[in-house]
Amino acid sequence: MYALRVVQPRPAPAAPPRSVRLSLTDRCDLACIYCRPSRDTYLDERLDLDAWRTMVHGLVGAGVRRVRLTGGEPLLHRDVVDVVRFLGSLDLDDVALTTNATRLEKLARPLREAGLRRVNVSLDTLDPARFARMTRGGRLDVVLRGVDAAREAGFDEIKLNAVVVRGENDGEIEQLVRWSWERGIVPRLLEVMQIGEGAKLRDRVVTAAEMRARLAHLLRAGEAEREIDRGPARYVFARHDPDKKVGFITGTSDTYCKGCDRLRVASDGTLRPCLAKNDGLSASAPARAGDAGAVSRAVAEAWTMKPDGDVFKGCTEPSAAAVSMRGIGG
Ligand code: 5AD
Repeated sequence: MYALRVVQPRPAPAAPPRSVRLSLTDRCDLACIYCRPSRDTYLDERLDLDAWRTMVHGLVGAGVRRVRLTGGEPLLHRDVVDVVRFLGSLDLDDVALTTNATRLEKLARPLREAGLRRVNVSLDTLDPARFARMTRGGRLDVVLRGVDAAREAGFDEIKLNAVVVRGENDGEIEQLVRWSWERGIVPRLLEVMQIGEGAKLRDRVVTAAEMRARLAHLLRAGEAEREIDRGPARYVFARHDPDKKVGFITGTSDTYCKGCDRLRVASDGTLRPCLAKNDGLSASAPARAGDAGAVSRAVAEAWTMKPDGDVFKGCTEPSAAAVSMRGIGG
C-alpha cells in the first residue's frame, strides 16, 4: 500500500528576494519623532556573529545579491565591523549601511577598511536645537563630525536621508540639498511614512511633489527616475550640474510595492517580507544551528507571505501603523 500524500501547490512570487536589509540591533541612541516612542521595549533575542554568517549564507543561497545593514542603529552592534568584513568577503553586488552617524567618527575608517563601499546617513536638520528636538536629545555636532569622518574615509558614495516634517524642518530642504551637494553627498528627501510613530504625524506629511516644487529653481524639469536595483528613491538632476541630484522617497503619496524584491531580517532572526506588515517567520533556530540550507528554505517560505505588489499599497495600508520602524530599520 502506498500512502497518498497530497502536496498543496503554493503560489510563489515570481522572483526570489534579491535585496535584504539586516537589522543588526533594534537599539538606537536617538528617538526620532517619526520613528519610535521615547520609551520602548526591545527584542530579547539577538543573533551572534556566527548566526549572522549562517543567516547571510542562507539568504545568498535563496537568491539575495544586495545587503544593507540597518538597525535600530547598526553601529551600536559591537560586531558591526566584523559583519561588514564577512559581507565583503562574499561576492555580493552591493554592501551598504544606514546610520545616524553618532558613532561614525570612530567607525568610518574601520568600516571602509573592512570593505564597506557606501553609507547612508540619516540627518534631518542642520540646526542644533531642531536636531535635539527631532531626535529627542541628539547632538548635531557629534553627527557632523561623523559625516566628516565618512568623507575622509573615502567611501564610493555617501547619501543623506532627511525625513521632512511639516512645521519642523520643511523650511530647510533647500539648505540640506545645497549643504549635501557642496560635500559630494547625495541628498534624499523622504515623506513621513505612516508607519509606527510616523502614523501619528499624518497631518505633517510634506509630499514629494511639494518638496520638488519648492526646489524647482534648482532642479531640471521632467520625470523623476528610479535607478535600477537601487531601491524606491526617484532622482532629479540639478539644472546646472549633471553630477548633482536629489532623491525623493514617496512612502506616502505614491507607494512602490510593485516589483519589490526586498526582504528584511530583524535582529532576532525573524524574516520579514514586507515593511508595512508585521508578518514574519523566524529563521533564528537554523541560523544558530549553522544550517544555511534550512535558512534558505525559510526564506523561500517567508517570501510566499509577500503581499501582492499590484494591489498592496505599502505604508498607506492600515497594517503599517502597527509596525515598529526601529525594529526593522526602514
Ligand atoms: N517615515 C520616513 N522615514 C523614516 N525613517 C524612519 N522612520 C520613518 C518614517 N516614519 C527613516 C530614517 C532612516 C531610514 C532608515 O528610515 O530617517 O533614514
